[in-house]
Amino acid sequence: MDATTERNAFREDLLSGKTAIVTGASRGIGAAIAQRLCEAGANVVLCSRSAEAVTQIAETLQEKGYTTLATAADISQKADVEGLIKKTIAQFSQIDILVNNAGITRDMLLMRLKDEDWDAVLQTNLTGTMYCTRAVLRPMIRQKSGRIINISSVVGLVGNAGQANYAAAKAGIIGFTKATAKEVGTRGITVNAIAPGFITTDMTAQISEDNQKQLLELIPLREFGHPEDVADAACFLASDAARYITGQILQVDGGMVM
Ligand SMILES: NC(=O)c1ccc[n+]([C@@H]2O[C@H](COP(=O)([O-])OP(=O)(O)OC[C@H]3O[C@@H](n4cnc5c(N)ncnc54)[C@H](OP(=O)(O)O)[C@@H]3O)[C@@H](O)[C@H]2O)c1
Repeated sequence: MDATTERNAFREDLLSGKTAIVTGASRGIGAAIAQRLCEAGANVVLCSRSAEAVTQIAETLQEKGYTTLATAADISQKADVEGLIKKTIAQFSQIDILVNNAGITRDMLLMRLKDEDWDAVLQTNLTGTMYCTRAVLRPMIRQKSGRIINISSVVGLVGNAGQANYAAAKAGIIGFTKATAKEVGTRGITVNAIAPGFITTDMTAQISEDNQKQLLELIPLREFGHPEDVADAACFLASDAARYITGQILQVDGGMVM
């Protein structure tokens, strides 16, 4: 058995029988997380605002033999989140894992930042994370177990010029993760966050080549991360291997911030 086969074999039953929700799963990091959780044996509910995009990813996974459900939901809208939870329970009767991955950017220097761009980023990245987390607590408390994984960012730890709204939301997720971990630890639920560095997705494709070169110099491993790097960390935190870890922020950034 070579190293890759061994790694996949380890993954195959890591999460078997578990049901996971991944928000923002139509592309980038969320799509990679959905795939990893499927490979580890979980049933995965994928959501994004675009029904077409998320259905396409879910169908590709189904063609590989995995169990998925695609749902269009805007996590910044409470009613959509309630619908997402209802559909998940109706289909799979339980929710074991929630990955709060959906996120947006509306970058601008603070002097010129529009109220609506502040509101949109906070409402999606932070309030949406709260809506989803609050909604899964009841079924998780009933089951006496659960894994909640919030996708923050290194920008939430160290800030970034031109991203005051995004940094505030991602820093908010860190405080939210720790407070929630303290609230629900006795119920068998762990709550952790991942803080990715620079990961190659549509979100970072907008960054100019010059800026990308400068950023690369800040990364000791001298390469940008891939969505799968974040997905592996999420899969670990979702598994029993991470049963004694809660309230933590796991950086997946090639050493960019330390
Ligand atoms: N890429 C990086 O370097 C990096 C670094 C640190 C942190 N992150 C974080 O990682 C997460 C994923 O980033 P990414 O790079 O994969 O971004 P991306 O390629 O832009 O994908 C974002 C995903 O979120 C979905 N989404 C956005 N708003 C939504 C909403 N209101 N409701 C439901 N789904 C929504 C998008 O689908 P629709 O547009 O169809 O809704 C898409 O599936 C984000 O939270 C991001 O902040 C990324």
